[in-house]
Amino acid sequence: MEQINDYINTHKDRFINELVELLKLPSISADTAFSQDVLETARLVEKSLVEAGCDNTQICETKGYPVVYGEKIIDSNLPTVLVYGHYDVQPPDPMELWNSPPFEPVIKATDLHPDGAIFARGACDDKGQFFMHVKAVEFMIRNNQLPCNVKFMIEGEEEVGSDSLADFLETHKEMLSNDIILISDTGMMANDVPSITTGLRGLSYVEVEVTGPNRDLHSGIYGGAVPNPINVLNKMIASLHDENNHITIPGFYDKVEEVSAEERAEMAKAPFSLEAYKQALDIDDVHGEKGYTTAERYSIRPTLDVNGIWGGYTGEGAKTVIASKAFAKISMRLVPDQDPDEITELFTKHFEAIAPKSVKVEVTPHHGGLPYVTKTDSIGYKAAAMAYETTFAKTPIPERTGGSIPIVALFEQVLESKTILMGFGLDSDAIHSPNEHFGVWNYLKGIETIPYFYKYFTELTQ
Ligand code: BES
Ligand code: MN
Ligand code: MN
Repeated sequence: MEQINDYINTHKDRFINELVELLKLPSISADTAFSQDVLETARLVEKSLVEAGCDNTQICETKGYPVVYGEKIIDSNLPTVLVYGHYDVQPPDPMELWNSPPFEPVIKATDLHPDGAIFARGACDDKGQFFMHVKAVEFMIRNNQLPCNVKFMIEGEEEVGSDSLADFLETHKEMLSNDIILISDTGMMANDVPSITTGLRGLSYVEVEVTGPNRDLHSGIYGGAVPNPINVLNKMIASLHDENNHITIPGFYDKVEEVSAEERAEMAKAPFSLEAYKQALDIDDVHGEKGYTTAERYSIRPTLDVNGIWGGYTGEGAKTVIASKAFAKISMRLVPDQDPDEITELFTKHFEAIAPKSVKVEVTPHHGGLPYVTKTDSIGYKAAAMAYETTFAKTPIPERTGGSIPIVALFEQVLESKTILMGFGLDSDAIHSPNEHFGVWNYLKGIETIPYFYKYFTELTQ
């Protein structure tokens, strides 16, 4: 495995150039105008698996965008690692906030990435991160260093909720059978503070519509005498948190697992600077649930946030109008053992109950996902920790993250496999935001670290 460093030195320009080519394709799964680009991206991903030395590569049709599959089976008695990632990306808007076009990758140095970072939509989430695995496997296959079997499953609908994947898992159980699932689609604490993600939050996402009068009205003639759906919606939303920033939906916390004092004390040992956190975001104070630290608020506690709100006149100048309708998109991040369907139902009931008689409300559920936590005493976790110890010369810190990858809980339910989350991005890499980037150092460090996971996982399994 030590040859990995020489291999990276010899091939790093090509590794970067190939990722740049992948990043040029606008594989935006949320916007059907880009459907041809999403499909073209799937073909390029398949080509990269072929070039890495994978066999039986396929573009597997689903109800939505295809899953790209490839494998290298060297011996059915050896363990099998299933690598999951996604080749779709978030929409790049707002475009005007990008310093360079989102699908014309450029490499620039930043404070946290002095060796340069690749700026492009998808650089970190998740093209750059799953591509590390393609390159790590390329190294192992070409140098006869692959110690076990590997399968790739790279999907194209993660950013819109992986709707087709549950069916896909059910119908491809045999093809996807494995001993451990390996994913790089999260982050780490800092380049000199390696960490392994041990938890993901779940998600319940809803859209609400509040209707007042049957048409837009003159705000002078009618104002004061009729329900204004925008005012009403805002008041309803404001009431969803109390003065301690607890969520007020009855039953919302019923299944929330209280994290033990020991575990919270352990979490508090992880390096975290509130000052640096506030400074990086240009906020003078943080905000959140009373009784919990900032790190706890974004990892072990559930949330409710408005993601978008609209209605009425938002164009240039002023228009005196009372709108007929107001809308909002609301996400709730969930923790064990909350269930997304149950939470969506609790939300819907409550939202309907608090609506004044003067308006009608409609709640439409979007996608959801279960939360996930994994233990640190598994073989998979140990193998990952040993891999980081080898390449970072530091023991990685286990960390529960606030983001969601809904498929991880499904993997456990349908394939009965555990997932190891080895993320190499930083929180400051601006995923889902303008100027997303991925450090060149992080990209290459991932390629260096991944082969050791295979080595230690195989050794520990035997
Ligand atoms: N890669 C992210 C999830 C993530 C990022 C987890 C950083 C932890 C740290 C993933 O692509 C994502 O954005 N997931 C969505 C959920 C999905 C259902 C749209 C999310 O978390 O909002
Ligand atoms: Mn992702
Ligand atoms: Mn994402």
